[in-house]
Amino acid sequence: MRKPYVFITRKISREALKGLNESFVVNMWEYEEQPVPRDILLEEAAKADALLTMLSDKVDLELLDAARNLKVIANLAVGYDNIDVAAAIERGVTVCNTPDILTDTTADLAFALLMATARRIVEAAEIVKAGKWTGWSPLLLAGHDIHHKTIGIVGMGKIGETVAKRATGFDMEILYHNRSRNTEAEERLGARYTSFEELITTADFIVCLTPLTDETAGMFNKEAFQKMKQSAIFINVSRGAVVDEDALFEALVKGEIAGAGLDVFKQEPIGSDHPLLTLPNVVALPHIGSASAETRQGMIMLCIENIARVLYGGQPKTIVNP
Ligand code: DGY
Repeated sequence: MRKPYVFITRKISREALKGLNESFVVNMWEYEEQPVPRDILLEEAAKADALLTMLSDKVDLELLDAARNLKVIANLAVGYDNIDVAAAIERGVTVCNTPDILTDTTADLAFALLMATARRIVEAAEIVKAGKWTGWSPLLLAGHDIHHKTIGIVGMGKIGETVAKRATGFDMEILYHNRSRNTEAEERLGARYTSFEELITTADFIVCLTPLTDETAGMFNKEAFQKMKQSAIFINVSRGAVVDEDALFEALVKGEIAGAGLDVFKQEPIGSDHPLLTLPNVVALPHIGSASAETRQGMIMLCIENIARVLYGGQPKTIVNP
């Protein structure tokens, strides 16, 4: 009998694959930092019973139509906007993601980015390393306070709630906007639900954690940035396409907002000549929200478990329900 074929679109440790190797034929793209080229992905998908994909792999109609044996896609991310989930489900393909396991790590990064942007930590560290620190002075690299300010969280799922929990330690007032009320966050953390309009006009820190959908694409546009306080700091840890990057650049240049901390971009990797990267009040990171060694290992193991469960005919641990 033919053993099911599993294709992994990025290099992961052979050790992690032990659980799959016994029962399945496993093949993987052997590069850690380079995504699998589209033509190879399509070829592999055509043979695969299971795919372990990255958020940079586009799983669209073309791929799904080629993937005649495919039973499960395990995406190494909580977000799954790279996958046409409805089309996958229509073809009987189970889609899995990695929620929960990355919640604390991603919330840590969101808060670290907020702090780095507000307190100009990257600029400050660069000055010291470049030998440009000429001495202490009263306003040298004076940034913005975080404590006792208002944080506005757009997208109050598990990661949003966990960011809010961190904010309570800084005595912050917590506002949130979400598709639906999160009464648990209201009761446990004192978070207050507001309209999007109220949130963006009153928060000192606007933290974007909403998933990318047709409704959220481009929601942070020119109008939204114009409504923010001039002292506001915008943080994005969700997906780049939720933001109109040209409008963000304009808002920063015109001083309509004070700064931005960005872990995600419309085009990833962002080109080093992108206008946003020329601004000193932008802290830019290479999409490392969930990138701690422990969490990434846990995410890989969860993907592997989901694949094994589905291929053995069972239910995955974490399934995407659109
Ligand atoms: C996710 O899991 O969707 C995050 O963006 C990864 O850092």
